[in-house]
Amino acid sequence: MNNLIAKDRKYLWHPFTQMKDYKAYPPILIERAQGMKLFDTKGNFYYDTISSWWCNIHGHNHPKIKAAIKKQLDLVEHVLFAGFTHSPAIFLAQELLSVTPGNLSKVFFSDNGSTSVEVALKMSLQYWRNRGKKNKQKFVSLDYAYHGDTVGAMSVSGKSLFNEPFSPLLFDTHKVASPYCYRCPVGKNYPACKVECIKFLERVLQKKHAEICALILEPLVLAAGGMIIYPVEYLKKAAALCTQYNIHLILDEVATGFGRTGKMFACEHASITPDFMCLSKGISAGYLPLGATLTTEKIYNAFYADYTAKKTFYHGHTYTANPLACAAALASLNIFKEEETLKKIQPCITLLRKDLQRFRALNTVGNVRSLGLIGALELVKNKDTKDAFSFSQRIGMKVYKAGLKEHIVLRPLGNVIYFFLPLCIREKELKAILDKAFKIISKIS
Ligand SMILES: Cc1ncc(COP(=O)(O)O)c(C=O)c1O
Repeated sequence: MNNLIAKDRKYLWHPFTQMKDYKAYPPILIERAQGMKLFDTKGNFYYDTISSWWCNIHGHNHPKIKAAIKKQLDLVEHVLFAGFTHSPAIFLAQELLSVTPGNLSKVFFSDNGSTSVEVALKMSLQYWRNRGKKNKQKFVSLDYAYHGDTVGAMSVSGKSLFNEPFSPLLFDTHKVASPYCYRCPVGKNYPACKVECIKFLERVLQKKHAEICALILEPLVLAAGGMIIYPVEYLKKAAALCTQYNIHLILDEVATGFGRTGKMFACEHASITPDFMCLSKGISAGYLPLGATLTTEKIYNAFYADYTAKKTFYHGHTYTANPLACAAALASLNIFKEEETLKKIQPCITLLRKDLQRFRALNTVGNVRSLGLIGALELVKNKDTKDAFSFSQRIGMKVYKAGLKEHIVLRPLGNVIYFFLPLCIREKELKAILDKAFKIISKIS
């Protein structure tokens, strides 16, 4: 094992990782996984409480998903998706359109979350150009938003440590204050505030709608921004403003899609429908890379023209609609139906919401929030002032290290410790995870 870790250090450069930290935080060498447990080469297990970067849905090593991939592998592993097509992509598109809300009617595949966002941004911009509205060139997005690491996706993300070094590359967007209730931008409390913070968005749209293509939002959960869970009313009002000012609504369901919030898609909590929906991560249940951008007939029709009209959408990726990934995604959607996954997770959702309340008593826990199988604890230095721990204190990493000793992955987002649980979780496992987390955070408190 030490030999492999030495080779890892010699040859690899890991994402979002300061490689100088290697000694303090060496990577864990995972050999196999089952359900929601990861096993290392020494036989230790770790509860995968963040679903392997928010993508695992039905658990690791699921026999039905494995069988679907193997079956497809015997037919065709990959084929270019321009001028060719295949049944896994066709059936998957049909299924996706049947489980997503509203009048979404076309699926454009890609291969990850960032690309699904890039596609939506580019389609929205080109839609307005194809319709002769070349002045519509800007996007609106939220502070604390995260839409990926490609240049367009970074541009519409909130300003952060992650994208600051690349600021010279980013295009200009309208950023508005987020509905971050714990640190309310208007200094009020929900629900008495009546989501007054919507005024920041309203003002931008009122003044600038003629130059705006779209608003892009992560529905209900600003995930990488710190699992900031915001009120359904905000999402409803934001959608209504998009209609009022004739701009597109892009919902980035890359993290929230496929049941994580308790409904198949987070936008269903608000009964709203977007012009574009971005999907990835859970789409293939975490087995193979896949992205999809869903849109409406109205948008599709703005591109549908004679070749010489130059209205074609010129965008694509080599691994677009990879047949193995589509087969995994189809198997995952079948499991949702056959195993009534969304019904089965309800007791765990209730347990998570209720049991997280005991963390409020801990003197470092400033805020507790949850939605579906997502839960977050915002750690603060001072609960009265809400003063944050400093960057150099690395409180989140301390919790993470302590978690690994207790066989639980508590990967932090800055000062936020969170759970992003797979839908295969059972109550017994959830209880064990929450007890372990409570013990660890109590000690650190
Ligand atoms: C909401 C959201 N959008 C987009 C992305 C980017 O996805 P990917 O990492 O697959 O590019 C992420 C990744 O965490 C995300 O949470």
